[in-house]
Amino acid sequence: MNIQGRPTRTIRPLADRGGVEIIDQTLLPHRLEFRVLDDLEAAAEAIATMRVRGAPLIGATAAYGLALAMIADASDDALRAARDRLLATRPTAVNLRWALERMQGRLEPLPLGERAEAAWTEAAAICDEDVALNQAIGRHGMDYLKWHHARKVGSGAAGVNVMTHCNAGWLATVDWGTALAPVYLAHDAGIPLHVWVSETRPRNQGAALTAWELAQHGVPHTVIADNAAGHLMRGGRVDLVIVGADRVAANGDVANKIGTYLKALAARDNEVPFLVAVPGPSIDWRLPSGAEIPIEERAAREVTHIQGRGEAGVQSVRLTPERSPAANPAFDVTPARLVSGLITERGLCAASREGLLGLYPEAEAGWPGTLQ
Ligand code: MRU
Repeated sequence: MNIQGRPTRTIRPLADRGGVEIIDQTLLPHRLEFRVLDDLEAAAEAIATMRVRGAPLIGATAAYGLALAMIADASDDALRAARDRLLATRPTAVNLRWALERMQGRLEPLPLGERAEAAWTEAAAICDEDVALNQAIGRHGMDYLKWHHARKVGSGAAGVNVMTHCNAGWLATVDWGTALAPVYLAHDAGIPLHVWVSETRPRNQGAALTAWELAQHGVPHTVIADNAAGHLMRGGRVDLVIVGADRVAANGDVANKIGTYLKALAARDNEVPFLVAVPGPSIDWRLPSGAEIPIEERAAREVTHIQGRGEAGVQSVRLTPERSPAANPAFDVTPARLVSGLITERGLCAASREGLLGLYPEAEAGWPGTLQ
C-alpha cells in the first residue's frame, strides 16, 4: 500500500534491530502515527490492545516479539516464556499460534548464540511470505471479480458491488490484505467496483480502518451501519460478500469478526455469493470443526463506549446507561454450509474438508511448520 505516495508495510524492522515500527491502529482514521515496539512486552501490549490487529499481522508481530525477546535472552526458558506471553494476548486468530510454533521450531535446535540472528531472519521471512500469500489471494479473487464484472456488463449493469465486514485489508496483514487484495488488484486493473463497508461495531474496524485504507487507494466505497447489510442484499445492491478469517477449521467452518455469521445468513437468503479469503496459516488443521474455536471475549467498555473525534480531539464517550451490563464476544463462527467458497493463495475451493485437502494435500500428513 502507498501511504502519502510511499510504499509502506504495516510492520517494518528497524535497521539496527532495536525494534519494529508499526502503525498504531487505535488512532486511525483520525491520526496516522507510527510507533516503535522495542521489546517483548511492547509487542505483547500492541497485540492485546489492538494497536496491531488482523490475524496475519498479529502473527507477524508475535514473530518479531519473540525475536526481540531472543536479543535480550536466548535461553530455552526465555524462549518458552516469550512464546507463552505472546500466545496469551489474543485467542481466536490461529496465525498467532502458527507463527510462534514456527519460530520455536526454527530456534530450539540452534545453539543459544545463533538464536537472535535466526529469529530476526525467520520473522522477516514470515512477513515476506505473508505479502506473497496475499498477492496470490488477490490474483485468484480478482479473476472471480472479473467474472462477475463480465456477467454484469452482459446484463447492462455497471460496476461490481462488493460487501465486506471488519478489516481484512492491508492494515490486517503485512501488505495487501486478504479480502481486500482482490479488490485492490481489480481496481488497479480498471474493473469498476464499489465496496459496501460495514462499520463493525463495537470497535468499528470497518468504518475506521477499511474505509480509511480504501480511501487511501482511491477505491469507491460507502460505509454502512452493520444492520443495513440485509436490506442492501435484499434490494439487489450487493453482488458478492468477501470477508477474511481468523481461523478456518478443517471442515471449512470460519471464525471471523462478530457479525460475519449474520451477513452469511442474509447472503444465503438472498442468493448472494459469500466468499472467505483465507491464507494457509489461517487454517487450523487440528480442529475438526468450528465448534472448538476459542472465541475471544473482550472488555465490556468496547460496547458501552464509542471512540471518535470531537472538538477536544480523539475521545471516548459513553453510549449506554451506567448500570447496564454489556457482553462483548469479538468473533463468531459461520458454518461451512453458508460459505460459497474459500479464496486461498492456491486458488478457490469449497468450504469443506475435501475442498481444502484438494488444495493442501500435504495437510493429511501434518501441516508443515507446526509442532504436533
Ligand atoms: O479483532 P480484529 O480487528 O483483529 O479482527 C480482524 C478480523 O476479524 C479479520 O477479518 C481477520 O483477522 C482477517 S484479517 C486478514
